[in-house]
Amino acid sequence: MAKRSAHKERHAFVVGWPIAHSRSPALHGAWLKEHDLAGSYTAQAIAPEDFDDFLRGLPASRFCGGNVTLPHKHRAFELVDEADEVARRLSAVNTVWLDGDRVIGSNTDAYGFAANLDDRAPNWRDGNTAVVIGAGGASGAIVFALLDAGYRRVWVLNRTQQRARELAERFGDACTPGSPQMAARLSGEADLLVNTSSLGMVGQGDLDIDLSQARPSLIVTDIVYTPLRTSLLRRAEQAGLTTVDGLGMLLHQAVPGFERWFGIRPTVTEELRRIVLGSDQDDHSQAAS
Ligand code: ATR
Repeated sequence: MAKRSAHKERHAFVVGWPIAHSRSPALHGAWLKEHDLAGSYTAQAIAPEDFDDFLRGLPASRFCGGNVTLPHKHRAFELVDEADEVARRLSAVNTVWLDGDRVIGSNTDAYGFAANLDDRAPNWRDGNTAVVIGAGGASGAIVFALLDAGYRRVWVLNRTQQRARELAERFGDACTPGSPQMAARLSGEADLLVNTSSLGMVGQGDLDIDLSQARPSLIVTDIVYTPLRTSLLRRAEQAGLTTVDGLGMLLHQAVPGFERWFGIRPTVTEELRRIVLGSDQDDHSQAAS
C-alpha cells in the first residue's frame, strides 16, 4: 500500500552536538509509522561552528523543520527570523519550522513538562509553592511552566548561587533563589518538587534530599529519565509521595513539532513509552532534549 503522503514527503531533524544518543528519532519514527506517513526524522550532528550555516540554510534544504537540542538552543533563538512568546521568554528555541523562506522558532519544553504532569498527576495545577532543583537550561522552561500554571512561589535551588539568582531575576518576584541544602525544609511547605539538574542520571552523582519533612501531598518529579526511577523518585516513593518520571516530558514536548511538520497531532501512549525506552539502553539523557 502506498504511504499516505507519498506525493509530498516531509523531512524533519533533530540537530545537536553530540546527537548519537538522542531518542527523538525513535520517538518521531514511531509516530511516522503509526500514521503510515512517508517522510523522515533524522539526527543531524552539527558542530557549533557549522550551526549558523545549517539553520540559515534551512529554507533551501530538504527539511521542513526540526528540533534543536544542546548546545544550540540559545544560538537558534538568536538566528530564527521569528520566535514565539515562550521562546523569547526563555531565550531558547527547541523547535523550528518554515513559513515560506522564514525560519520560525518555538520552545515546547515548558509545554512538555506541563502536559506530562497533566497526564500523570493532574492535581499539580492546584499547587502554590514549587521547589526547582537546578538552574541550567532546562530549569527556565520549568519555572515558566510553573508560573504559567498559577504557582505563586517558585524556589530555584542550585549549587552555584549566581546561576540561581540570575534565573530567579528573569522571572521576577514570584521566583526565589536558594541553595540545595534548603530543599529538605522547603519540602514541608511545597506542593511540587522537581529535579532539573543532571544529578541522578546514570554516571552522575545521586541527588540526596531528605524528604522526611515533606507534606503528604507533595508531588515529586524528575526530568532525568535514565534511569526511569532516579534516586530522588525512589526516595519519594518510599516516603509514600506521588512521583512522576521524566520520560513523559520528552514524549509530550515532541507533540507540537510533529504536528507542525507532518500535519497530524500524535498521542503519547504506553506503547510509545516502551518503544522509546527500548531505543537505546546506553542513553544518558534529560527530558529536554
Ligand atoms: P541543562 O542545560 O541540561 O540543564 P546545565 O546547564 O549543564 O544543563 O545544568 C546542569 C544543572 O545540574 C545545573 O543546575 C548544575 O548546577 P551548577 O549550576 O552549580 O553547575 C547541576 N549540577 C550538575 N552537577 C551537579 C553536582 N554534582 N552537584 C550539584 N548540582 C549539579
